[in-house]
Amino acid sequence: MKIRKALRKDFGELYDLGLLTTELRVSKNEPFMEKDDFMLRITDKRHVFLIAEEQNTIAGFICASTKDTDRPLKHRYACLVYIVTSPDFRRRGVATKLYRECVRILKARGITHLYTLADADTKAIQKFLLGKGFKTGEKMIWMDRKI
Ligand SMILES: CC(C)(COP(=O)(O)OP(=O)(O)OC[C@H]1O[C@@H](n2cnc3c(N)ncnc32)[C@H](O)[C@@H]1OP(=O)(O)O)[C@@H](O)C(=O)NCCC(=O)NCCS
Repeated sequence: MKIRKALRKDFGELYDLGLLTTELRVSKNEPFMEKDDFMLRITDKRHVFLIAEEQNTIAGFICASTKDTDRPLKHRYACLVYIVTSPDFRRRGVATKLYRECVRILKARGITHLYTLADADTKAIQKFLLGKGFKTGEKMIWMDRKI
């Protein structure tokens, strides 16, 4: 299993995996993320976007954003935007490998805290995060509309 940086050429396969992963979808109106937003996160230097690859197949990906860190504060937060393992590769440590490498890079960039939004009805991600030392905060409900 190789962990590497996501590249522009990976966009199609990654976006398809995102579409397939129903847990990522928070809005009833919109896809999990707009295509241009997703591409921007692959190419933007303020994001850490990594892929787990096994024999040229994408087994999973992780995306973390550090774009709110330009203010001179003591604590520097990053957001864990997505962590996904393809269904065929689950429970084999793929997400753990992605997470560890992502945290290593974030720390090297001076990040001190990491937060994320986890689906309140999905046990897998909650157990995963609890196992990585995250604590559960308040539960929220996503609401959106076009204006
Ligand atoms: C959550 C997710 C990323 C875990 O990926 P994974 O590669 O299977 O995770 P790992 O193999 O590294 O699992 C590490 C630990 O997480 C927990 N875990 C993972 N999947 C679990 C499940 N289905 N049920 C319960 N615990 C689970 C376990 O504690 C596991 O350790 P163990 O296998 O030794 O018991 C994967 O299930 C997934 O892609 N889910 C859909 C996407 C999602 O919900 N992402 C979060 C929103 S961004």
